Amino acid sequence: MNVKGLLAREQRAYLRRNRSEWKDHLGRARSFFGEGLRRADPARPVLILGAGTGLEIPWALAPPMTTGWDGDPWSRLGTALRHRRWVPWVFGDFTGGFPELETTLQRCLTLPGTLQRRPAERAALRLAGLLPSLTPDAEALQAWIALHQPGTILVANVLGQLGSVADRLVEAAFRPAQPWVSDPDHPDHLAEALDAWTARALQAVCGVLRDSGADLWLLHDRAVIHGNDAVELGPLEEAWAGQLRSAAPLEVGDPLPGLDALDFFRDRSRLAFNRWLWPVGEGQLHLMEALALGPSARPVPEGPERFEGLILEAHSNTSGHLAFRRA
Ligand SMILES: C[S@@+](CC[C@H](N)C(=O)[O-])C[C@H]1O[C@@H](n2cnc3c(N)ncnc32)[C@H](O)[C@@H]1O
Repeated sequence: MNVKGLLAREQRAYLRRNRSEWKDHLGRARSFFGEGLRRADPARPVLILGAGTGLEIPWALAPPMTTGWDGDPWSRLGTALRHRRWVPWVFGDFTGGFPELETTLQRCLTLPGTLQRRPAERAALRLAGLLPSLTPDAEALQAWIALHQPGTILVANVLGQLGSVADRLVEAAFRPAQPWVSDPDHPDHLAEALDAWTARALQAVCGVLRDSGADLWLLHDRAVIHGNDAVELGPLEEAWAGQLRSAAPLEVGDPLPGLDALDFFRDRSRLAFNRWLWPVGEGQLHLMEALALGPSARPVPEGPERFEGLILEAHSNTSGHLAFRRA
């Protein structure tokens, strides 16, 4: 299965879930993104990454030049059916890393010069060995931003999904075999290498977003809490783990390996910051993080600055963004 097919299947599964406990999350997500759309400069394009079928996006508030970006081939149609609006769309992987991951997977699973499959254990080791040489480069996203100069970008609950999409892609390619080491006392080199790949993909995307100059409205899973123990959220603080309150020890997964968005975007001014719990399903509670970022808080550098091989001169535009023009 390729990544498009996988995203379509995952999205169908997501929409088929029992949503009785989602009301609070959906209300908060829609009001957060609604605020981002309301505050967006209507004269400039807006980009929505991970737009999906718009369950969390109040498209009625989106300025005319708003574009959705989602790799699920059905996402635009789903958005049109839900919101009665046919909007510009980019289909495809915005990390730039999934096509290369797919071809590497096939290379590892197939014996050279034949159509025969390598034994799963050897293919998993081979993949673990090759993964460190793959460096996702979000160049399509960077090119789109350079061309359209969006004033606002919404990152709609997708960053925390990248690792699980990579896991599902590997599992689908290995089926019916299992790629992971089942004994928890043994190291799983493939799982570790895939986590490191996800960390590089996240860094690539967030690096492009940080340099975009656009206001950023990010909503993502900050942690996934497994099990049915009662959990409450303490007062908002920088370190997310410090907010979790439970009488029992918690099993917590990190869907953003190596990324602390608060730290990564520390040079930006903060427009909004909040966290809440989302009971996604039985035994699965997500800690959501909503973070809105304005222009860079750094002073505008003096003199020409080198940016992507061109000599450009920095200046503050009317909305206070750091912008560049050819020197
Ligand atoms: C949890 S859903 C977000 C739901 C969406 N915000 C909504 O309002 O319906 C994540 C979305 O991100 C998309 N996605 C995941 N990884 C992607 C990638 N690498 N490139 C493009 N889209 C991706 C999925 O297809 C899915 O629609």
